[in-house]
Amino acid sequence: MKVAFITLLSLVATSSLVQAGPIAAFDQLRVFRQTEPERRLIQYGEDTPPKWMKQTDIDNLFRAGVKFMDITDHQDLGSYSAYQRAWEPVIPTKVSYQDEVAPFIGNLTTDTMKSNLEKFTNFRTRYYKSSYGAKSCRWLIEQIQAVVDEANRGDLVSVKEFKHSWDQFSIVARFEGSDQDLKDELVIVGAHQDSVNLWLPYFGRSPGADDDGSGTVTILETFRSLVTNGFKPERPVEFHWYSGEEAGLLGSQDVAAQYLNDGKKVVAMLQNDMTGYVGTNNEVIGIVTDHVDEKLTDFLKSLVDNYASIPYTSTKCGYACSDHASWRKAGFPSAFTIESAFDDSNHYIHTSDDTIDKLSFDHMLEFAKVASGFAVELSHKQ
Ligand SMILES: *[C@@H]1O[C@H](CO)[C@@H](O)[C@H](O)[C@H]1NC(C)=O
Repeated sequence: MKVAFITLLSLVATSSLVQAGPIAAFDQLRVFRQTEPERRLIQYGEDTPPKWMKQTDIDNLFRAGVKFMDITDHQDLGSYSAYQRAWEPVIPTKVSYQDEVAPFIGNLTTDTMKSNLEKFTNFRTRYYKSSYGAKSCRWLIEQIQAVVDEANRGDLVSVKEFKHSWDQFSIVARFEGSDQDLKDELVIVGAHQDSVNLWLPYFGRSPGADDDGSGTVTILETFRSLVTNGFKPERPVEFHWYSGEEAGLLGSQDVAAQYLNDGKKVVAMLQNDMTGYVGTNNEVIGIVTDHVDEKLTDFLKSLVDNYASIPYTSTKCGYACSDHASWRKAGFPSAFTIESAFDDSNHYIHTSDDTIDKLSFDHMLEFAKVASGFAVELSHKQ
């Protein structure tokens, strides 16, 4: 093994790969070292039986635009229905806390989103298994922690790494709830932090400005406003930045499985994946209506009507479209807002051209308003 490693090392060192830099060459080396092709269990439809697939076949599936969940590590995530039936969260049908939401929305600004996204897209890629992806999550958690520190709110808000079997961790920022009866319940606002270049995952340039840098800074700005302006929920509210979404919802499945195991009860989860691109039609908020919770999605429409300055449009995005699917599979209500109707969304994603110049920060701000309403409204007992 060691001999083979050295041989490969010298082979790679003398190859043209070195032009991409020593770190890139080392990442590429890891690909060569996988002599036995590992197979992963891939599910790409709710009623389609999962298949064991080699990485090369999974890559091709991804390039063909097929959405999937890599369920290798969590094959039983969908089998907790008995537990779920014993507890049914109540989803409101209309908004009730406009006065409480207003100051948080009033404090949202595009400035911080812009400066954060500029820095976040400077990482060569945020691919979950790459050395760059390990650095980008470290940078992100520092920004989140700084929000809490600057507002001096460490007593009520915690920021934690959620570790996985790869180097890029997910991030969980949590507001404790004031009502002790509701301490096992929670509301989640999520986005994914990883990016991918679909041709060269390990080192191909992948700014991921829209997918999902936009959602990442959208919920960070929502979080900043809530923290800075003294948000005190009744039940806990968490902000999640997932790793490994592009590889089959890996990070969010790890978190959802852990929460199920810990007996946590997720009242509602909202995913923000791609919030920056204004489609060719009118500027809208896309509300995904397939593979989501119907009641929560209806409530989401009411949140857009009340808190956003643009209308919503209903759209579909298919199986395992983003991290809300992990929570749905675990039996919890989840919903998903996206930048436009799915057909009208950004076509530059997963390439080196997913850049900031194609995005609107004012558009992202509309999603931050909706996420603020979501966090505040659902944090109340009713
Ligand atoms: C947001 O609130 C903070 C703290 O109250 C304040 O310093 C800041 O000026 C506000 N920003 C905006 C855009 O309203």
